[in-house]
Amino acid sequence: MSSAKMFTGEEIPLEMHKVRIVQKLRLVPIEDRLKAIAQAGNNTFLLQSRDVFLDMLTDSGVNAMSDHQLASMITVDDAYAGSATFTRLSDKLTEIFGTKYFLPAHQGRACEHILAKTYVTAGSVVPMNFHFTTTKVHITLCGGSVEEVIIEEGLKSKSTCPFKGDTDIAKLRAVIEKHGPQKIAFVRLESGTNLVGGQPFCLQNMKEVRKVCDEYRLMLVLDASLLQDNLYFIKTREARCKNKTIREITREIADLCDIIYFSARKLGAARGGGIITNSEKAYRAMRDLVPLYEGFLTYGGMSVREMEAMAVGLEETMDEEIINQGPQFIEYMVNKLDRKGIPVVTPAGGLGCHLDAKAFIPHVPQVEYPAGALAAAMYIAGAVRGMERGTLSEERNPDGSEHLSEFELLRLALPRRVFTLSQVKYAIDRITWLYENRALIGGLKFIEEPAVLRFFMGRLAPVSEWQTKLAAKFRTDLGNSL
Ligand code: F0G
Repeated sequence: MSSAKMFTGEEIPLEMHKVRIVQKLRLVPIEDRLKAIAQAGNNTFLLQSRDVFLDMLTDSGVNAMSDHQLASMITVDDAYAGSATFTRLSDKLTEIFGTKYFLPAHQGRACEHILAKTYVTAGSVVPMNFHFTTTKVHITLCGGSVEEVIIEEGLKSKSTCPFKGDTDIAKLRAVIEKHGPQKIAFVRLESGTNLVGGQPFCLQNMKEVRKVCDEYRLMLVLDASLLQDNLYFIKTREARCKNKTIREITREIADLCDIIYFSARKLGAARGGGIITNSEKAYRAMRDLVPLYEGFLTYGGMSVREMEAMAVGLEETMDEEIINQGPQFIEYMVNKLDRKGIPVVTPAGGLGCHLDAKAFIPHVPQVEYPAGALAAAMYIAGAVRGMERGTLSEERNPDGSEHLSEFELLRLALPRRVFTLSQVKYAIDRITWLYENRALIGGLKFIEEPAVLRFFMGRLAPVSEWQTKLAAKFRTDLGNSL
């Protein structure tokens, strides 16, 4: 992909696949978009697909599947117990990660549920480079708490640090010393660290985390949901790994872990999840929860079709020519916006392009959810659906006050191999227009606020008439364009 140079010197990511199945899209006029976002309670999770042009909400379960994946879904073994499909998937996991045991689960958060139920008790602490929304809630529901030990650079939106997902080793030690190792349920590392903008960790840093775990006899648990992007970044940004294959890097990572879990809605480009380990003790400790919460041990709540597709998807993840598409498209989008002076998280990570709402609309206070407001504005401006990743995605403090997030990001996910470059260019254009008109964007307030994971189902309203004014300005600037 990256090795084809353009004669004109233009730098574009070149697709190494062709499109053979398509889905028709609609781009509804801005007046309809105003109505749709109001009906959705200004929450992009509540928009209907028919009203969305570019769905950049997530890369979860919506990456394009390959012809080989689709073909594999035809020959499945539906047996409730002992299915050959399970064996094929389990063998593939063993081949790639070198782990003996596999516990299937219906998706990533189900793995988090099982892990938390098994290892987290009242007063437990889980140090991690950075939390993910569902991870944190599962840990706190079991009476535990999360301590974030990411490097300082990881919390800066603008940076040139290639591995912003790295752990601050001194911070990790300090957290363990502060609570005492007996209180630490396990240490968690998240690959392609989601909430800081899909930022990777490097292999060297992971080795240092492992050393600390060995010293204090702690388990190291890897959330490998976004491992695909992280592998690509280790291969291309970590000098000492440049001559290693993706397979070798994967194996080195796996050998450092006690337990690995993943959302196969991301890793393996299918729909499902799983926990893998070499430890019989860990396997036995968690095993009984799978038939209770997920399904029998040879499907764990997953469809066998998805399991077959996952096995093929995992194999394809070992191909650098396949996994480079996401990071290269994201880099294109991030760099174009960055060069225009539009605040985006840099360097480009995996998962998607992240607009920094604190810098984009500094006049909107954090208690009025700038990232949520920018998500609504982005939808109005272009029927592009992104996801708020800021204060709205946090849980309130026990006293009811807002837990202000480090970051206020509007994540525009780029599901792999889904969008064309012209669609990415359209998104860049509408973001540029929005930035020119940022003074018009106002905040949001809750009108219906769920107690847990409020960002999924909560409903909000604009604090003023700003959305109507924004739409009117669009008509002035862009005439009768959709
Ligand atoms: N861990 C990470 C790092 C994730 O990104 C996700 C999901 C999960 C765990 C939970 O997995 O959705 O299969 O239950 N992230 C999705 C997203 C929801 O849009 O970023 P799941």
